[in-house]
Amino acid sequence: MVDRPTRVVLEETENAGILRRTSVSHIGFYVPDVPAAEAFYANVLGLVRQADLPNGGVRLGWGTGHHVMDLIPGDQGLAHFGFEVRDADGLEGIRARLKEKGHEVSELDPAYIDFADGPVEGLTTTNPDGTPVHFHSAVWRQGESLADPGRRPIKFQHTTIGTSDVQAMVDFFVNTIGFRISDQLADGRFCWLRSNKDHHTLAVVNVGTPGVLDHYSYDLAEWEDFKAWCDRLTELDVPVAWGPGRHGPGNNLFVFFDDPAGNHIELSAEMEKFYDSHVTYVPRKWSPVPSSVNLWGGQLPTWRNTSEASI
Ligand SMILES: [Fe+2]
Repeated sequence: MVDRPTRVVLEETENAGILRRTSVSHIGFYVPDVPAAEAFYANVLGLVRQADLPNGGVRLGWGTGHHVMDLIPGDQGLAHFGFEVRDADGLEGIRARLKEKGHEVSELDPAYIDFADGPVEGLTTTNPDGTPVHFHSAVWRQGESLADPGRRPIKFQHTTIGTSDVQAMVDFFVNTIGFRISDQLADGRFCWLRSNKDHHTLAVVNVGTPGVLDHYSYDLAEWEDFKAWCDRLTELDVPVAWGPGRHGPGNNLFVFFDDPAGNHIELSAEMEKFYDSHVTYVPRKWSPVPSSVNLWGGQLPTWRNTSEASI
């Protein structure tokens, strides 16, 4: 008899689904070679330096829009990640729910909030792995259109964090912060969470190590763009590491490549939309097999595995 891993069901309880207009905002990485990473992000993704940070770090963004990332000198690692909250009373609600459950909350350094659409408001807390998570109010994004449209994706769209305790992370983001579960692998080792109409703005995967980045993703418009981007990556000597393919959960097209520090970058399109105001969804449980995360034959990169090998 095949020894199958325990099936775990990640649950939505109180507070799930409170957030409906919250999107990814920015991310911070530790990288061993900041100039190399900055050059990569300028050449490949069109991100330009918007500010110098202490100790040789840099802040990058498109044009004069809200910054996308901080590159901080250090061993490769995830420094922080952030969300833009456009829900009415969204920030106050997050703050109250965090405090009610005994989490530390402090004011977000206003330097993280560019071009605030109203008063500068933001908070920072830490997730169960100790990684700082930022939430801030709406920002103007029109300045992003000043970036060269020929070599930039549409937007930074989702962050997927690696952990050793998916259940604790899902409980934090769903049952305290107010995300919803869109999909999960049936072994509980991968869970996709939404905070707006997109199938996921955050995902959590068990990689056996707490507090790491699994990958992060930018949106493209359509399938035709994947050909142009794969040709462009090849022209820039950036190997395509996984895909193109289509994920089961989210039904989105994807292609992956790495930055010089080894962070996995995804380009994605056609992500499934959820309309919670019109219809009730039941989170789906996908078999923990390769073809769930890559419908087109189940090919996986070296850094991804599923608990059941048969596709
Ligand atoms: Fe992804």
